Parts: sequence; structure tokens; C-alpha cells
Amino acid sequence: MRISVIGCGYLGAVHAASMASLGHDVVGIDVDADKVARLAASTAPFYEPGLPELLAEVSGTGRLTFTTDMAQAAGAQVHFLCVGTPQKHGEFRADLSYVESAFEALRPHLAPGDVVAGKSTVPVGTAEDLAARLVGSGAVLVWNPEFLREGFAVQDTLHPDRLVYGLPTDDEGVPTPDGEAARALLDEVYATPLGEGTPLVVTDYATSQLVKVAANSFLATKISFINAMAELCEATGADVTRLADAIGYDARIGRRFLNAGLGFGGGCLPKDIRAFMARAGELGVDQALSFLREVDAINMRRRVRMVDLAREVSAGSIVGKRVAVLGAAFKPNSDDIRDSPALSVAAQMQLQGAHVTVTDPQAVENARVKWPDLKYAASALEAAQDADVVVLATEWDEYRNLGPDELGEVVAHRAIVDGRNVLDPKAWRGAGWTYRALGRP
Ligand code: UDX
Repeated sequence: MRISVIGCGYLGAVHAASMASLGHDVVGIDVDADKVARLAASTAPFYEPGLPELLAEVSGTGRLTFTTDMAQAAGAQVHFLCVGTPQKHGEFRADLSYVESAFEALRPHLAPGDVVAGKSTVPVGTAEDLAARLVGSGAVLVWNPEFLREGFAVQDTLHPDRLVYGLPTDDEGVPTPDGEAARALLDEVYATPLGEGTPLVVTDYATSQLVKVAANSFLATKISFINAMAELCEATGADVTRLADAIGYDARIGRRFLNAGLGFGGGCLPKDIRAFMARAGELGVDQALSFLREVDAINMRRRVRMVDLAREVSAGSIVGKRVAVLGAAFKPNSDDIRDSPALSVAAQMQLQGAHVTVTDPQAVENARVKWPDLKYAASALEAAQDADVVVLATEWDEYRNLGPDELGEVVAHRAIVDGRNVLDPKAWRGAGWTYRALGRP
């Protein structure tokens, strides 16, 4: 099938390459000429494991092209909207300007029977709005949220946990004939994962838009729940990692997403829960999501606690102290620094008078652009040279596997704060380190 993918960021670039690998004819469209040029040369414009291999795999087939020219969308039967919906500056609401401009630029190129499949995370009501603007064009809008995780984006796109279609429905909630036709086209697009038994949820617009923000809110809540327990552990001398293991054995709870530490960041969870609260307010049901305010607050408190711990292990003051921060990306296996807890902690310590050096296996280039005043190093050993305190902020494998003696040789003082609870306290203390962690004695 001929497909267009509009917006070639973390979501769209992976989606375009994945759809081409499933055998479809794909054109990826983005306003950023530099990004398009890189993708056209089969180079991933950001770090995502598996994406370079996927681009190389499809590059010889001629099934994947990239352009800045929206007119190239004409002739595609399904158009995936994959543009970003960042947090609006100074507000909780989502900034829908990219959705707006992409949709309006696409509209003149649509033909009767075309499907526009929205993948961006949007405030509920957006799909209804866009659909109303397609009336009379013969094109149909479907909401098809995406749940991929950065770092596992290729795997999540090709083998999703589930697919969700939000279709146009009549007054009884039954899909319209247009909706059924759109569903058939999407079934063809996703024939491979559906054939492998991927569960499919077919529903209305409102539910499909809510599914995405509900899922992200649940994940954020799970993380903040365990981080709230970490605060209790800190007050009582308990160990949050053992507590998470113990409650996680209950299948109703589950151990995943119960890793206490510096909390969640990235381009999705923080802004999605805030936009969800803002939308609930507009709908007059803000009370229903007031707990998310607490989820956000618990998350932000962990960053403050991390700075406090760095101060504690630096004899009560970080002023003039050399601090090595291991990690800049918001999580391992990504070069994404959007709302990164690691950089937020690094910047805060710098602001408070510490000399901070940050390192990261992939994200230093991005970090340098956003935080030019921080110092950067190429490796953990280089960053930790003469450090008074080491702060582990993002749990890349190479930091998990650091040896206390190896690192001990380069630092000025053996003091470490483990912001992700990934080091073995016994081994580090045994090697003469002052070891502190979030939620562990
Ligand atoms: C998230 C959702 O998982 C994904 O389904 C959605 O499509 C987009 O948002 P992503 O932002 O890529 O994906 O990262 P995720 O793996 O969910 O991690 C989010 C943040 O939570 C990271 O900063 C991570 O370090 C943190 N986290 C995760 C924890 O602090 N503890 C955990 O147990 C899990």
C-alpha cells in the first residue's frame, strides 16, 4: 500500500521505516530539510537502537523516500500524522500548532477514500475537530494512537502490545460505513502484526484519544507511587528496591515500572499528564485528575532530594565542589534530553555553585546545545577526574557496570549518589565509598 507519514521525529521516522519494512511504499514528509536529507541518505537523525539497521534494510528496495514537499502525499491511501504535541510554553496545555499546520498542509492533497490516521498524542476532542474539517472531502479520519517507547521504538512498532483504532461512529456508537472502510485499510497496513495475533481494540474517537493519555498517566502514577514509597523508606531506613520486589510479585501489581529513583522525564510522560489535567479542566472534570498534580509533584521532589544527597555526601555543601554527573539522556538507550531529570539535577547543582561535568554515551551533543554552560566529558572516567562527588543519573549499562576501584582511582573523594538504584551498595562501600541512594539506606 502507498502510505505517507507526516512528521519524521522519534515517532514518524521509526513508523515510516517500519511500514516500509512491512512491504509498504512509504513517503516520509517533514518541514525540517536537514532531517529529511539525513533520512533520505538512510542515516538516523537521532539515536534509536535498530533504526540504522532498519533504514539500511529498506534503502535498497526503493520503498522508502523522504521529502519536504507535502504534495508528495498525494496518491497515498493512508496518511499517518506523527507530528509532536509539546507542552505549551508557560502552560500545562498541549501545543497543537504542529498538528494544525501539518493537517492543513495535507488537506489539499487528499482524495476521496483516503484515510488520515492520527498518531500524535492529543487532547481528547482534537480528532472530532479534525474530522469535521474533512466533511465533504471524502477522506476519513481515524485515531490510531502510538505507544512506542524510545530505545525500543522499532520493536514496539513492529510488534506492538496492541493496536487501537478510533473510528467515526453514528449516534449509537456503531462505526459508520466510512469508518468500516477505513478500518479495512488499516487492517491491510497492519496485516503483519495483526496476523501475529496483536490484540486490536476498535472504538470511537474519544476513547481512542483517551487510551493514550490514560496509559501514560497510569505509568507515571506507578513510578510516582514507588517514589512516594521511597520517601517513606528514607524516613524509616527501609529499602525501596526490596519493597518493589515484594509488592511486584503480586501479579495484580507487577514489578515493571516500579523502579524508584530520579523519576520520569522525556518528551511524553511529564507533558502528557500536564496536558491531560489541562484538558480535564476545560471539560469541567478537573477533580478527576487532581491526583496527577501529586504524581507530578512527587516526581519533581526526587530531583530536589538528589541535590540534597549530593550536598550531604559533600560535607554539607556543594559550593566550589567538583561533581561528575553520569547521564544526560532522560533514560538509557536514547539521546533524548527533553525534560531530562539528569540534566535538571546537573543544572541545579551548577546553579548552587558546584563545578559540574556531565557525560553520556549518546546525548552530550544534544545536551550541549540546550545547556551550554555545563561542562562535558567523553566518558565516566574523564568526568569523574578529581571529582568530590559522583552522581549516577541515567542508568546506561556502562555506568551500571562501573567498578568502584576503577572509578575510585580517578576521583578526589570516594562519594557517590546512585540516582537509579542500580549499583551494589555493599561492593561500593566495601571499596571505601560513601554510597547514598534514593529510597535505600
Ligand atoms: C513513554 C511510554 O512508556 C510509551 O508507551 C509512550 O508511547 C511514550 O511515553 P518513553 O517516554 O520512551 O515512553 O519512556 P519510558 O520507558 O516510559 O520511561 C519514561 C521515564 O520514566 C524515564 O525517564 C524513565 O527513566 C522513568 N522510569 C521508568 C522510572 O523512573 N522508573 C521506572 O520504573 C520506569
